[in-house]
Amino acid sequence: MAQLPSDFVWGFATASYQIEGSTTAGGRGPSIWDSFCKTPGKIRDGSSGDTATDSYRLWREDVELLKSYGVKAYRFSLSWSRIIPLGGRGDPVNGEGISFYRSLIEELLKNDIVPFITLYHWDLPQALDERYGGWLNKEEIVKDYVNYAKVCFEAFGDLVKNWITHNEPWAVTILGYEKGAFAPGHQSNTEPWIVNHNLILAHAHAVKLYREQYKQAQGGQIGITLDCHWQLPYDDSPENVAAAQRGIDFKLGRFADPIYKGTYPASVIEIIGDRLVYFSPEELAVVVGSSDFFGLNTYTTQVVKAGGDDESNGFVKTGFTRQDGSQLGTQAHVPWLQTYPPGFRLLLNYLWDSYKLPIYVTENGFTVKDENSLPLEEAIHDADRIEYFHGYVNAMLQAIQEDNVPVKGYFGWSLLDNFEWADGYQTRFGVTYVDYTTQKRYPKDSARFLKKWFSEHTSE
Ligand code: NOJ
Repeated sequence: MAQLPSDFVWGFATASYQIEGSTTAGGRGPSIWDSFCKTPGKIRDGSSGDTATDSYRLWREDVELLKSYGVKAYRFSLSWSRIIPLGGRGDPVNGEGISFYRSLIEELLKNDIVPFITLYHWDLPQALDERYGGWLNKEEIVKDYVNYAKVCFEAFGDLVKNWITHNEPWAVTILGYEKGAFAPGHQSNTEPWIVNHNLILAHAHAVKLYREQYKQAQGGQIGITLDCHWQLPYDDSPENVAAAQRGIDFKLGRFADPIYKGTYPASVIEIIGDRLVYFSPEELAVVVGSSDFFGLNTYTTQVVKAGGDDESNGFVKTGFTRQDGSQLGTQAHVPWLQTYPPGFRLLLNYLWDSYKLPIYVTENGFTVKDENSLPLEEAIHDADRIEYFHGYVNAMLQAIQEDNVPVKGYFGWSLLDNFEWADGYQTRFGVTYVDYTTQKRYPKDSARFLKKWFSEHTSE
């Protein structure tokens, strides 16, 4: 059977606010998500991450699950406000937070599971937002983020060799500062571009620090995770082909092009004009080339036409209906996701052709329609999720074997059903069913599917 490269890693991913709970325990300070969840109307079921999957207390069970699924790696994020409760460089470091993550990391390593750590998966310490406007304040946030990164490299870098600076900065800028759908809930057409700039700078300075002071001694790698849906032109008319490229520029290129090429995409410059915050030559010197790999989160493909009215996606119209009237694939629980494996293969090829870096797929997954209203005995037989994973891992294998795209790792989203941000708990993305009243975990069929698929395709 076709094999993956011998150094290929696979596993599952999670994020601190989505699984930990215990938001006031262990010395943790509040984050912007704690506050956001308290704003009426922001979270669909009125819930929050206060309990989530209780993983701050049940982490040993989570590691056992990972072990039972046969994974080689686990991607999770650190809660900045567990480590530095008030967030800033003059603020105290919380020893309890450090010990919590060290115990988790040690347990993973004991079980031969390689940790991949995300430093920032959206849960900014609330104090930094209040003190100086969080991501809007370049001078302060870049220094505080780098200080936080330094504390993490010092505390965990002897054990952790894979670092991700940011998760999906697109969601932070557009959902957090343009649409108001995510914390901190702003609605603006200037702030997203200020935050865009500051997130890139914070990332780049953390990478610089790591490369100058830790990389050699600790022997690790560091990069950023960006997200993109493949953009399939509705037809081959020049305006729809151009629209598809614009869709990619506005989702991915707005971060990837400065980081890997040193400039914003031409379409972004044209549409955003002087609301875009440009990099000075000194800044650019730090930004360009500031990633050892390309971290990719991807879930779906969109069929794209020109003529949309949403500036934030480059004025493209997106949907799932093709020219012949057919749908791309199986509809998920969320409106933005349909299964379409060929788009994954095309996206992997596009990234390799455009940026020439090894790729880690840091998230990929599916949420079964109405899974939340099914009884447990039915929910664990998640055929649509299996269909999805089957198509996507095979598309990845083709990209590796037939197209020679260097994909180095794959993480399914998610290890557990968990707090799906503004959707609350009704949207389930896990390969493990979580009963939120008992916090018991039940493996779904998709977990078994991936275990089998990877064991068949991996050489030891
Ligand atoms: C991307 C995000 O990184 C993750 O937090 C989220 O739960 C999944 N997508 C599913 O929407």
